Amino acid sequence: MSLPIRAKLTIWYTTLLCATLITFGSIVYVVLSRSITASIDKRLTSLAEMVSKAVFRPGTVTLPKDFDIFLEHFFGIKTSGNYIQLLDKYGKIVFISSTLGKNHIPLSGKAYHHAIGGNISYETIDNVGQYPARIIIFPMMEKGQVISILQVGAPLQESAVIISALFYILTLGIPLTIILASGVGWFLAKKALSPVDEITRMAKKIEAGSLNERLKVSGPKDELGRLTETFNDMIARLELSFKQMKQFTADASHELKTPLTVLKGEMEIALKAEKTVEGLKETIRSSLEEIDKMSSIVKTLLDLARIDSRIKLPKDKVSLNEIIEERFNQTMPLAKYKGVDMTIVKNEKVVVTGDILRIGQLIFNLVDNAIKYTVKGGKIQISLEQESDWAIITVLDTGIGIAKEDIPYIFDRFYRVDKARTRAEGGVGLGLSICKEIVDAHEGRIEVESKVGKGSIFRVYLPITSKTDELLNELGFA
Ligand SMILES: Nc1ncnc2c1ncn2[C@@H]1O[C@H](COP(=O)(O)OP(=O)(O)OP(=O)(O)O)[C@@H](O)[C@H]1O
Ligand SMILES: [Mg+2]
Repeated sequence: MSLPIRAKLTIWYTTLLCATLITFGSIVYVVLSRSITASIDKRLTSLAEMVSKAVFRPGTVTLPKDFDIFLEHFFGIKTSGNYIQLLDKYGKIVFISSTLGKNHIPLSGKAYHHAIGGNISYETIDNVGQYPARIIIFPMMEKGQVISILQVGAPLQESAVIISALFYILTLGIPLTIILASGVGWFLAKKALSPVDEITRMAKKIEAGSLNERLKVSGPKDELGRLTETFNDMIARLELSFKQMKQFTADASHELKTPLTVLKGEMEIALKAEKTVEGLKETIRSSLEEIDKMSSIVKTLLDLARIDSRIKLPKDKVSLNEIIEERFNQTMPLAKYKGVDMTIVKNEKVVVTGDILRIGQLIFNLVDNAIKYTVKGGKIQISLEQESDWAIITVLDTGIGIAKEDIPYIFDRFYRVDKARTRAEGGVGLGLSICKEIVDAHEGRIEVESKVGKGSIFRVYLPITSKTDELLNELGFA
């Protein structure tokens, strides 16, 4: 059953209170009534001892009429209010005190047996007077023989009043307290949980279109305060990725729109103008270039989407020095064509774990940029070295450099420092964002240092495969 927390709390609280009060009440009731009875028993025992001494004459037990009055006068034994009854050893009544009037104290078989055996016993009897009475059955002995049985009783008027008052207090008081306390508990639970209701209400109002709204953080920094803050952090992250998604879609459409417009224009002109076969061929060639541009953009976008969706990267053992060699040879003709002097200055033997193709793409993008943004006569130096647990790939160029204010954005998608020039170079502004995604996916980092007109240094840090990892990998645990 899915009860609201408020009801659950109240039920728990009330049940616990109920159990506590009932246990406590029962203990008080039992202990109090027992201790009252024990104190009456004690008084009766001492009275019975005194009476037995006073009436006892060796060999006989004789009592005058109104013996209780006599006892009070001559022995100072206060018998007032108490019942006294004397029986012979066969249980026959010998004397009844005036307090009993026409009544007598009954004697149960069990009590008689106890008395004959020389043992004192106590009984609570209902039918003596107006109130129940507590009776001591006291055997009077001579030379080890029971000669008569003395019964002394006290009406339980006072203790009955106390015990019944306590009984009423408990039976009425406990339910009343529980009803009152559960009401208070319900109210307190509502008060304590009202911020949760408020959070739910506010959170319901926030939708995709209103992600800029935040929950109000009011009150102390308790569990609920922290919950609200966590909610707000989550909404902030959602808002950011929503914005990024929107931005990305806008940028991507914009990038595709330009070649499409060019393509459309060329086609329209070709249709209108009366072109020769050679002229038409030229239009088709130029259209194909635009189509190539578009398919390269679409391919890059697809690559990005793949890395984005965190498809599990393969865990190949990648020999970085070999990849650097390979990519160097691949890009060398480009550098030569541009008149840039490109060299590998250091190439230590380093192995990392990851996706061989992606790491190749990462190195290619960096070298490609270095060539693209370095003018004739410039230099490019590539190096690979190991420093503790990191493999460091450095691509240094003496190219145009990047302004300080642009550096924070160069890893953003579609960001180009000089839009006009890079378009001429064929850049879309996705290369470095892909590098960043690849480095992140390999739990590494990428850093850049650059000065306008002097050149740039890109450094990539990739974690090195440790010996333990390799061993686990080989054993098939990783
Ligand atoms: N080595 C470099 N020297 C100077 N500027 C650079 C260098 N590398 C990158 N940049 C600047 O950073 C921008 C972003 O680089 P990125 O590689 O992401 O895009 P791109 O090279 O313009 O296009 P793409 O790589 O998608 O073909 C570039 O447009 C360029 O302005
Ligand atoms: Mg690039």
